[in-house]
Amino acid sequence: MPEAKVAKLVSETKTARLTIGDKTLELPILKGSEGPDVIDISKLYSESGYFTFDPGFLSTAACESKITYIDGDEGILRYSGYDIAELAEKSDFSEVCYLLLYGDLPNPEQKKDFTNKVTHRTIVHEQLQFLYRGFPRRSHPMAILVGAVASLSAFYHDSLDINNPEHREIAALRMIAKMPTLCAMAYKYSIGHPFVYPQNRLTFSENFLHMMFSNPSEPYVVNPVLARAFDKIFILHADHEQNASTSTVRLAGSSGANPFACIGAGIASLWGPAHGGANEAVINMLVEIGSKDKIPEFIAGVKDKKRRLMGFGHRVYKNYDPRAAVLRKACYEVLQEVGKQDEPLLGIAMELERIALEDKYFIDRKLYPNVDFYSGIIYRALGIPSQMFTPLFALARTVGWVAQWKEMIEDPKQKIGRPRQLFTGAPHRPFVELSKRK
Ligand code: ACO
Repeated sequence: MPEAKVAKLVSETKTARLTIGDKTLELPILKGSEGPDVIDISKLYSESGYFTFDPGFLSTAACESKITYIDGDEGILRYSGYDIAELAEKSDFSEVCYLLLYGDLPNPEQKKDFTNKVTHRTIVHEQLQFLYRGFPRRSHPMAILVGAVASLSAFYHDSLDINNPEHREIAALRMIAKMPTLCAMAYKYSIGHPFVYPQNRLTFSENFLHMMFSNPSEPYVVNPVLARAFDKIFILHADHEQNASTSTVRLAGSSGANPFACIGAGIASLWGPAHGGANEAVINMLVEIGSKDKIPEFIAGVKDKKRRLMGFGHRVYKNYDPRAAVLRKACYEVLQEVGKQDEPLLGIAMELERIALEDKYFIDRKLYPNVDFYSGIIYRALGIPSQMFTPLFALARTVGWVAQWKEMIEDPKQKIGRPRQLFTGAPHRPFVELSKRK
C-alpha cells in the first residue's frame, strides 16, 4: 500500500508586519498550492505576549493539508486536485477512498487490492450485537453509532498503536469497511429486524443496500441505479476539509487517542443540526411546511429570524454548493427510478429553492442550497427513515476523517491541539467559608 504523500508544498514568500505599541513583529506569510496565503502567527505569543482571538475559526487555518481544497466563493470542491462533479460522475466510492487516503487515484491492480482489503473487513465482531441489544429500540442511531464506533477500540487491539504505520493502515481500512455494517445494524435494530451480514461479492454501496434492505426470508436483488446513486452520495460526502467534525477528529487525535475513539468524537460533532444533522432537519422542515401555499409564511418566519431555512447556507460556500448541484440531478434520477417523481416534498423543496434564490434576504447573505438540501429527499424516496440520514453522512465521511487523522499523525510538525482563550471571568479573590456565604 503506498504511503500518503507528505512532501511539503508550503513555502514562505513574504512577511506581514504587526505593530503593537512601539514593537513591530515580522510574521512569515506562507503560500499554499491554492487558496489564500496564511500569516504564520505560531511565534506571536512568545515574541509579543499576545494571543489572537478568532471564535469559530473564521480566519484561522489550524493545519496544513493536502487532501481537500475548497474555494467557497467560486463553489469549488476538489479531492487531491480532482473536481467533485467529475469524481461523482466518472469514479466510484472505492477509488475515492483510495484517493483520499493515498493522494492519487488507484491503477487497476491497486484498486483491486484496496477493494479486496476493505471488503474482507466489513464483518464486525459478533459481540457487538450485544452492545446494540443494550440500547432501547427507540434510540437515535447516531447515539448508537457514537458508542459502537468508539467501542471498536475495545475489540481491535492490534490496530491501536498510532505510532505503528501498519496499525494505522489497518485501523483506517477497518473504519471504512465496518461503518456500513454498523449503520445498517443500527437501522435493523430500530425496526426489530435481524442483523444482515455483509456479502463480499457486492460493491461497497451494493453491500450497504443489501444490509439495509434484505431480510433472511426472501431474496434481495440490488437495484443498480440506486446503488450508483448511493455511490455518488458517498463520494460527495467523503471529505470536506477542516469542518467541525473533521477538526474534532484531528483535535481528539492530536493527544494520541486511538483512531476509533477519535472517529467516535467526530460522529458526535457531526450529529448537530448546524452540521450533519441538517439533512434530517431539512425533511422535518419540508414535512412541517406541508404544502406549497404555506411557503410564503415559512419564509417570512425565516426572515424574522424565528427559524432557519435548513439545507441553506454554509460557512465556506458563498455560492452554490457544488455537491448540491450534483445531488439535485441525482435526486431527479432516483425519484424517476422509484416512480416518485411527483413526491410532494420535492415539489415544496423546488419551490423553496426557487423563492430563496430570487429573494433579496438570501441573495444579500449569499445563502444557497447546500448538500443536505437534496440528500434527505433522495433518502426518503428510498424509504430510509429520517433518523438514518445523519448516520449515512457519517458512513461516507468516515474515510475523510480517517485520511485527515492519518495525515495529522504522519505530519512531523504535529503537536497536541491546545487553543487559548480570552479570559473574562472573575479575577483572583479570597475563598469564603460556607457558613459566611450569603
Ligand atoms: N436560513 C436563514 N438565514 C440564515 C441561514 C439559513 N439557513 N444561514 C445563515 N443565515 C443568516 C443568518 O441569520 C445571518 O444573518 P444576519 O447577517 O442578518 O445576522 C447570516 O445569514 C450569516 O449567518 P451565520 O450564522 O453567521 O453564518 P455561519 O457561516 O456561521 O453559518 C451555517 C453557517 C451554520 C451552515 C448556517 O448557514 C445554517 O445554520 N444553515 C442551516 C443549517 C444547515 O443547512 N447546515 C448544513 C451545513 S452543510 C454541512 O454541514 C454538510
